[in-house]
Amino acid sequence: MIQKLMPPVSRHPLTRALVTRTPLARGIIDRFVAGPSDTDAIAAVAGLADLGLLATVDLLGEDITRAQDAADTLLAYLGLLDLADRAGIAAGLDVSVKLSALGQAVPRDGRKLSYENAAELCARAAAANATVTLDMEDHTTTDSTLDTLVELRRDFPFVGAVLQAQLLRTETDCRDLATAGSRVRLCKGAYREPSAVAYQGRPAVAAAYARCLGILLTGSGYPMIATHDPALLNLAGRFAEHVGRLPATFEYQLLYGVRPGEQRRLASTGATVRVYVPYGADCVPYLTRRLVERPTNLLLAARALRSR
Ligand code: FDA
Repeated sequence: MIQKLMPPVSRHPLTRALVTRTPLARGIIDRFVAGPSDTDAIAAVAGLADLGLLATVDLLGEDITRAQDAADTLLAYLGLLDLADRAGIAAGLDVSVKLSALGQAVPRDGRKLSYENAAELCARAAAANATVTLDMEDHTTTDSTLDTLVELRRDFPFVGAVLQAQLLRTETDCRDLATAGSRVRLCKGAYREPSAVAYQGRPAVAAAYARCLGILLTGSGYPMIATHDPALLNLAGRFAEHVGRLPATFEYQLLYGVRPGEQRRLASTGATVRVYVPYGADCVPYLTRRLVERPTNLLLAARALRSR
């Protein structure tokens, strides 16, 4: 029920005002978002580096339908990479981007536009020795995102993509992408999807995740294991050891503000750990997904506020 209601509610202007202006909302934002500006993102990346954690930075914003807004998003990402370069932290940094933020949903030429914008972003990332990962959105965009991935990788082989274990198609996609040089982030999937295309319920999604994990870890690509689920993290560690994967050949990825103790613990075992750092003013859809996944995140934020 909460999953059905949240997306439309999150787009309502009143919700946006409530979600960004109340003290509880500020607590949630501070916990899960680096801040509104690129300097906040860079400061968060530097702070994580001090803890031995890598980062992938995401400029919040999606559902763009005007070419000018997509161009603005591209400029903001280019500015972020310039800033990271000047701060000396661009090499090894990853940038996460939604093709919808680069114009995929712009009427008529959306796919071409998002490809061109993504290619410009990749060229700048290549110059900075950074990488780019295409976030995955709802299932109606999976084919176009993976097609764009293939096109981008011809010129920029470092571009990675996200696969969502909850989709019925994903085991096949994992097999296709478990090839040398291919960076694949495996997550459960944050979008509510119909049973025609997706497993329903946590146990079925977790089982699908485990199967996909097996395919990626036994393949020859670079798996990026994106979950906070203790059982799956444990399984991934044991399976990686079983197939003889060295820490440099795969990584764990967790979200900024989620299980920070576990992020540090994994890194202390010698594992490669990357934190997904969102920044920007348009944080409502992102935070809505985090609250739908785990309503107790509200309690965490409330507790953090009380202890200030
Ligand atoms: P899930 O939410 O099912 O939780 C499982 C268990 O983890 C809980 O029972 C609890 O034990 C523990 N846990 C979770 N949150 C916790 C918290 N706050 N504190 C303590 N324990 C907690 N999705 C998508 O559709 N497209 C994308 O591109 C991405 N990208 C992405 C990048 C990265 C780096 C991550 C980590 C995730 C994504 N996602 C995503 C989101 C993903 O699909 C998924 O919605 C969330 O990661 C939540 O699923 P989990 O597997 O983390 O566990």
